[in-house]
Amino acid sequence: MKIITIIGARPQIIKSAAISRAIRNHFSTEIKEIIVHTGQHYDENMSEVFFDELSIPRPDYNLNVGSGSHGAQTARMLEGIENIILTEKPDALVVYGDTNSTVAGGLAASKLHVPLVHIEAGLRSFNKKMPEEVNRIMCDHVSTLLFSPTAKGIENLEKEGFNLNSVAPFTIDHPKVYHCGDIMYDNSIYFSKVSDQNSKLLAELGIEGDFILSTIHRNNNTDEPDRLLAIFGALIEIAEENKIPVVLPLHPRTKKMMELNLTPELSAQLTSSKYIRIIPPVSFFDVIALEKNASFIVTDSGGVQKEAFFFEKPCIILRSETEWVEIVENGNAILCDADKNRILIAYKKLANNKDLTYPQLFGDGEAATFICQEIVKHLS
Ligand code: UD1
Ligand code: UDP
Repeated sequence: MKIITIIGARPQIIKSAAISRAIRNHFSTEIKEIIVHTGQHYDENMSEVFFDELSIPRPDYNLNVGSGSHGAQTARMLEGIENIILTEKPDALVVYGDTNSTVAGGLAASKLHVPLVHIEAGLRSFNKKMPEEVNRIMCDHVSTLLFSPTAKGIENLEKEGFNLNSVAPFTIDHPKVYHCGDIMYDNSIYFSKVSDQNSKLLAELGIEGDFILSTIHRNNNTDEPDRLLAIFGALIEIAEENKIPVVLPLHPRTKKMMELNLTPELSAQLTSSKYIRIIPPVSFFDVIALEKNASFIVTDSGGVQKEAFFFEKPCIILRSETEWVEIVENGNAILCDADKNRILIAYKKLANNKDLTYPQLFGDGEAATFICQEIVKHLS
């Protein structure tokens, strides 16, 4: 069978490594994968760096859509993906997560009656002001096979009317919902083994002891000056008070918005602090090395908050809600929004908590193989 996989933003490129690896190892005679990169992310360190490192096949197509408003960006992708579907005539189209690339793929496939496979289905923040929430709801409701990483995702889909007991044959009007574990857990286990030998980042940064890893890129945090100020104010205070370095691989969106939205005083403090280490975005091996060796993680990233859990690190989530509710309910992460006081209190609480447990909430590391098996079974 022929599938088209849509990737575009950094986390999707990384996620796709798990499915491409499963195809290479177990389904090479059954599945031919055509990879379409929308070009949503395009900087070397947001895209190119991952292909060789994670053995992802080179994209067969790159739409080079670049950045833009949501409408313009998504429209360019939609048109490009539609043309590729018409040329390639795939048996199914696979999308990951909740970005504009995901929704463009979902719309293009469903309008052309190509069965859609949504990996990371069912996740909800219950905040439709988040562009990702709209993208993921729309994709779920035009999918034929929905693969949810968590039990909560299954519960959300059931509440939206999905029948959890549907029987084959499956279609857009009669979809199938699976609880299959998280392909990013597959990837974290798989690449964790090699990241130790390959990453030299900590040595290059001269970091030996405790440090905090932080990533920030959510649009409401970067684009609202008060929120950005509160987050950086808290990070500086934690770093200086505890004499602990904070390593911050900076998303290009955040870099741009810091120049616009931070006060000259705070910018000067960040530059002069010997504890704040702002660096460009890093490769996946490097980010795993940071996650494994950090003593604490502060993030608004969906992926990084979960990887904090995978590598058993306490985490502050710089959002008011999360799709990954399990890690909050289990006490491993605290939602602090962009509230300086809540961040400072949560740090004290979590940094000194030695009783955290990390149960296996995200599957067994074999989600990608299961997904491929079900695609072949039902869509070929
Ligand atoms: C997107 C996703 C978000 C995901 C994130 C992962 C949507 C709506 N958002 O957000 O869900 O968590 O990717 O990182 O799809 N830029 C560059 N170089 C690049 C890419 C982006 O400079 O390679 C800058 C541009 O100024 C661009 C801005 O970052 O306007 C935002 O990029 P965009 O892809 O629109 O959204 P993200 O914030 O990256
Ligand atoms: N990541 C990376 N380099 C970095 C920061 C993050 O490789 O400098 C990885 C991270 O480990 C995770 C993914 O990118 O697997 C998450 O992407 P991001 O935070 O951009 O998006 P989100 O998960 O919030 O959609």
